Amino acid sequence: MAHQPFIIIAIDGGAASGKSSSSKILADRFNLLHVDTGSFYRHITYELLRLGVAHADLPAINAALAKLQFTTRLNGRSAQMLIGGQPAGVEIRGQNVNEHVSHYAALPEVRHALLGYQRGLVDVAQAHAFRGLVMEGRDIGSVIFPHAEFRFFLHADPAERAKRRAREGGQDSIAERDRIDSSRKASPLTCPVGAIDIDSTLLTLDQVVEKMAGLIAGQLSV
Ligand code: CDP
Ligand code: CDP
Repeated sequence: MAHQPFIIIAIDGGAASGKSSSSKILADRFNLLHVDTGSFYRHITYELLRLGVAHADLPAINAALAKLQFTTRLNGRSAQMLIGGQPAGVEIRGQNVNEHVSHYAALPEVRHALLGYQRGLVDVAQAHAFRGLVMEGRDIGSVIFPHAEFRFFLHADPAERAKRRAREGGQDSIAERDRIDSSRKASPLTCPVGAIDIDSTLLTLDQVVEKMAGLIAGQLSV
């Protein structure tokens, strides 16, 4: 079999725009390591809240971050980040983390702590013989992998996204998170120049995935 080049796919977008669902399907279809970087920010937020470190207390943030050790465990095709050897619990999807995560994620210190770890997942994917990696978040195509083979940005009307999240249950202030994520100075949520912009407001998940998969398959067969 001919050697297949390693591919990186970046998927960014606001809350409930369809990043996780589409990236998991693409990971299965193209044998990619799936990386949900939102879960990393959620896990760190949970940990800092547990330690009682306020996001405004930068010396305490720096001291706490210096002690956090990130390692990786595979959960099927998904990369799970462990902190101090521990996986994240269901609490990282709860209301408390929903309310605080954007404040911690806006800190350059927190983003810097994750930068090398996120890029290093290429090595993990290669070591486990994945054909590539699909990473979803807010700054993947702009900052983490600006030269990724494919960079997608998912848009959807805020009202439609709120409906999607409500259907999943739980309490989430997605408009407020989007506002903070888009207006922060460090790696704001934005569609990077050259990324493929998909408006999924009127599309089903299947239609979004087919659009992405068609573009990927088209280029891979060249
Ligand atoms: O699932 P949902 O899109 O609602 O959020 P998420 O992807 O789990 O991300 C949670 C939060 O982490 C976001 O609202 C951002 O504040 C932050 N985040 C970030 O700043 N950069 C990333 N690459 C991923 C997430
Ligand atoms: O990862 P992110 O927060 O961007 O969104 P998600 O968790 O993939 O999607 C949020 C919800 O919207 C899920 O229940 C998806 O099935 C649903 N969805 C949809 O109804 N239509 C789409 N075009 C994309 C996602």
